[in-house]
Amino acid sequence: MNPTRGILIAGNWKMNHDQAATRAFAQALKSGLSKSMSEKVQALVFPPMLSLEVAKREFAGTRVRVGAQNVHFEEKGAYTGEVSGGMLKEIGITTTLVGHSERRQYFGETDASVKKRAESHLAQGFEVVLCYGETRAEREAGQTEKVLERQLREGLPSEWNARLVLAYEPVWAIGTGLTASPEQAEEAHAFSRKFLVSRYGAENAARTKILYGGSVTPENVHGLLSQPNVDGGLVGGASLKPEGFLALLNSAGSFF
Ligand code: PGA
Repeated sequence: MNPTRGILIAGNWKMNHDQAATRAFAQALKSGLSKSMSEKVQALVFPPMLSLEVAKREFAGTRVRVGAQNVHFEEKGAYTGEVSGGMLKEIGITTTLVGHSERRQYFGETDASVKKRAESHLAQGFEVVLCYGETRAEREAGQTEKVLERQLREGLPSEWNARLVLAYEPVWAIGTGLTASPEQAEEAHAFSRKFLVSRYGAENAARTKILYGGSVTPENVHGLLSQPNVDGGLVGGASLKPEGFLALLNSAGSFF
């Protein structure tokens, strides 16, 4: 973590928590949220589409932002099954998630479509959390930096934007319990930061948060956040229970 950039803890609920579960989560979280939580710690959740409105309503007046897991790049049209940014803005959604490995793996998203989405969402005023990361086979073949370089070169928006957040998520660590060590995470994050310098200049690169994701838990988050280029976590499984999410926020708060 870096005191100027602060820390962002984001919960990716994936296809979990219907409206009733979302309400229960929010109510439990609100009762535990510390009013004195440092402004440097930001909280964000990505509920499934049909739970967004409930989440938005329940978190009104708190510092928990609500984001959508999948948003199309076009503003309207013949895209059966898709949802546009405008529809999400109408219910107060501030943030979009782009390029998650599950979207790449199961729904055919590519670096090119990730870039299209990111640029469109940023232009529409959203904060965008853009995910990338290597598979186990790529890491074992010594290809990690090559893959990250390609994903960043082809997937990042052409222009820097203050609302852009990166999330390095090694695919082998997602949902497996195999967290990257703090040193492995830092290595990839420092590499990504260097790429950001070459793409957007040193000042913009220094302002961009890079989250780590992949089996983050309340137990290992402190070690990860202790690294200079790890600016937060994108957390799946451990973010689903309010007490887990609170523990993550409290651990982040201990740095300030
Ligand atoms: P996990 O998921 O924390 O359950 O590994 C992280 C993610 O997919 O964003």
